[in-house]
Amino acid sequence: MKITIIGTGYVGLVSGTCLAEVGNDVLCLDLDPKKIDTLNAGGIPIHEPGLDELVHRNAAAGRLRFTTSIEEAVAHGTIQMIAVGTPPDEDGSADLSHVVAAARNIGRHMSAYKLVVDKSTVPVGTADRVRAAIAEELALRGANIEFSVVSNPEFLKEGAAVEDFMRPDRIVVGSDDERATKLMHTLYQPFQRNHERLIVMDVRSAELTKYAANAMLATRISFMNELANLAETLGADIELVRKGIGSDPRIGYHFLYAGCGYGGSCFPKDVTALQRTAQDHGLTLQVLAAVEEVNARQKLRLIDKVERHFGKDLQGRHFALWGLAFKPNTDDMREAPALTIINQLLRRGATVTAYDPIATAEARKHLGDTIHYADSPMAALDNADALLIVTEWKVFRSPDFTRIRKELKRPIIIDGRNLYDPAIMAEMGITYDAIGRGVTEAKQQEPQS
Ligand code: UDX
Repeated sequence: MKITIIGTGYVGLVSGTCLAEVGNDVLCLDLDPKKIDTLNAGGIPIHEPGLDELVHRNAAAGRLRFTTSIEEAVAHGTIQMIAVGTPPDEDGSADLSHVVAAARNIGRHMSAYKLVVDKSTVPVGTADRVRAAIAEELALRGANIEFSVVSNPEFLKEGAAVEDFMRPDRIVVGSDDERATKLMHTLYQPFQRNHERLIVMDVRSAELTKYAANAMLATRISFMNELANLAETLGADIELVRKGIGSDPRIGYHFLYAGCGYGGSCFPKDVTALQRTAQDHGLTLQVLAAVEEVNARQKLRLIDKVERHFGKDLQGRHFALWGLAFKPNTDDMREAPALTIINQLLRRGATVTAYDPIATAEARKHLGDTIHYADSPMAALDNADALLIVTEWKVFRSPDFTRIRKELKRPIIIDGRNLYDPAIMAEMGITYDAIGRGVTEAKQQEPQS
């Protein structure tokens, strides 16, 4: 099939590449010439496991091409997939200007039937706006050409985006017309594997499904974070509670990890946007307001813990921080809890040395030279009073604890991701303060002979 992808951001680039991988002829459009130049020169603007190899293979095979030409892009694909950004407006609602502009371009230049697929996360009712924009452009030039608009929200997770696209657990399609539904079935046939993954529904339900999924997941996290704080007060361990409730199949184990708050490009933005949508229709989503509030507070939880050990005045204190990205396997710093935590430490007079396996360059864009950047986890510990863990990268899971104890001025680990066993930490002579588990004091170490 001939497919055009409009927007080569996270969703666009991954979708286009994966669709090329199964044999389609894909042309990706972006209006940013720098991005297209980078892609044409073999560079990948984002870090995503497996993506490099896939882009190179498909580009070399001529199935994946990149352009800045709107005319060429509209002429190319029978399927026009809109995957442009929908950044939050000042009031928190999604800014649809790029989506509508893409629709207008399609209407302005199309000369044959087009199936327009809304892939961007867009509020309920957007497909209607896209349809209206295309119809208006067609009317302006007196053209009478058929087209369909469907909603096909993307559920991919950063760090696992290629895998999520290639092996989806579901493919949601909102379609009100049969021709479009048939084409969507053909498009996704290669990704169906052993059973039907396509869930076809009306357009509005599909649009709402995307927000509902992210809001539900964010709610689980905030709920667990709130319970974690209660567990600490009560002397319970949230990790044990998590296992205890996760074993109920109605609850399940996923997305029950208490931590230092959710971040990223989706949850914060989508939770706010869904509330805005409700407000626009005279409703209030009370649960989501609390989800947001709890999350903002949770990002400060590690600061509470630092203050517990070092007092409010952190002048002259130096902290090692492991993990800057909002989650592992990405260099994405958008809404990353590390930013809030670092800013609060600096405001209180402390200094920070951070280590992240890949997000350092991105972090520099936000933090500049306000902190030091180490090139290994151990190098970050140099001269530090304590270690804070913010992102659960795999390399942090089994470090040399004896060395950590020796390097830190006070052997304290404040863990925002609950990576370690408190009993082992105590044995190792490290005081361990984790989310929802309270403080486990270090056991006195035998003097070395
Ligand atoms: C999310 C959705 O999972 C995805 O389906 C959607 O398309 C986009 O938004 P992503 O933002 O890449 O994906 O990350 P995700 O893995 O969902 O994590 C989001 C945030 O929640 C991270 O900050 C993570 O640290 C936090 N989180 C996740 C927790 O604090 N606890 C958990 O149990 C799970």
